[in-house]
Amino acid sequence: MYKINIAGTGLAFDCAPGDTIARAAIRAGIGLPYECNVGSCGTCKVELVSGEVESNWPAAPGLNERDRARGRVLGCQSRPGSDCTVKARVGDQYLTGCAPRRFEARLAGQRDLTHDIREFRFALAEPVDFLPGQYALLQLPGVEGLRAYSMSNIARDGATWHFQVRRVPGGKGGAALFDHLRVGDTVAIDGPYGLAYLRTGSERDIVCIAGGSGLAPMMSIARGMAAHPAMAARRLHFFYGGRTARDICGSDMLAELPGYGDRITWHPVISMPEADGHQWTGPTGFVHELASATLGAALREHEIYFAGPPAMAQAVQRMLFDAGVPAAQVHYDAFY
Ligand SMILES: Cc1cc2nc3c(=O)[nH]c(=O)nc-3n(C[C@H](O)[C@H](O)[C@H](O)COP(=O)(O)OP(=O)(O)OC[C@H]3O[C@@H](n4cnc5c(N)ncnc54)[C@H](O)[C@@H]3O)c2cc1C
Ligand code: FES
Repeated sequence: MYKINIAGTGLAFDCAPGDTIARAAIRAGIGLPYECNVGSCGTCKVELVSGEVESNWPAAPGLNERDRARGRVLGCQSRPGSDCTVKARVGDQYLTGCAPRRFEARLAGQRDLTHDIREFRFALAEPVDFLPGQYALLQLPGVEGLRAYSMSNIARDGATWHFQVRRVPGGKGGAALFDHLRVGDTVAIDGPYGLAYLRTGSERDIVCIAGGSGLAPMMSIARGMAAHPAMAARRLHFFYGGRTARDICGSDMLAELPGYGDRITWHPVISMPEADGHQWTGPTGFVHELASATLGAALREHEIYFAGPPAMAQAVQRMLFDAGVPAAQVHYDAFY
């Protein structure tokens, strides 16, 4: 166990062997900034004042040459090799009340949702709580590094965590899950993480905007809203975008929720209607365009959650900014 001190704050925490500085801090209830947890966004950069660390992923794109020259390291990738002192910002907004834990979980079931999205259901030996919209890190057999996947269910009892994973061509994590993992196999999971969780205290109606692999956290937000007694009067607009008709899924899951078709509305859209030959009679275009056309200035009155691939997330962010939606009402964890 190494001791990590945060310079100038009087704060210190223990980091267990193999754990990283950012994750050990969050486990200990100290809010070090982070977002993706997989070395890509750079939000978790800290300056190493003293001590030694080793990086899980030395070439991680979240750090550039200038950062390295200044002694900065990625908190989410850095494993201490001694006691350390780091310079870092700290804030309680990086804590959620659900402290992440490391545990083994068994694949209990799986089902295809589309031609390239599959749901994987993991059973935990004991319940671990999470908030709707959060994600976990999976160590998959034969795959270097961890992969982040969002939970699609809610932690009613916490003993099963469901993930909906889109297979990316050539992706190693996807290949391990789709081609090699069998029901009964176990994987190591670390979580929950993520700050784009359902704000149950908000009085505003909700908009969820998802594209492709962003389905899971938005489904969890919808399920969380439907299950929360204090949110019984909230309305939800759920927008889901894909390229072609065969990419669209999710209406059956939403239809199971009380209020579907009334306070919960489903808005699927595809951007390439001619591409796969399947019949499509719904709207066409990009998902951010449909959200904007459907709600217009009323977007400003909503609590907005979105998730999906980087290009879609950037387009949604721009659209919300142009629509004048206050940043405090917008919640997302970038996918990489
Ligand atoms: C917060 C968050 C939530 C996400 N939720 C979902 C979800 O619910 N469903 C979904 O389908 N996808 C989700 N993703 C995307 C997912 O984590 C993967 O990036 C995607 O599935 C492709 O993974 P792959 O292993 O198949 O592809 P690969 O190309 O093999 O790997 C892609 C990612 O793995 C990481 N990586 C690659 N090499 C290394 C290395 N040597 N060491 C450490 N890390 C490495 C990087 O983050 C890289 O972006 C999420 C991503 C983030 C950040
Ligand atoms: S690079 Fe560490 S949280 Fe994104």
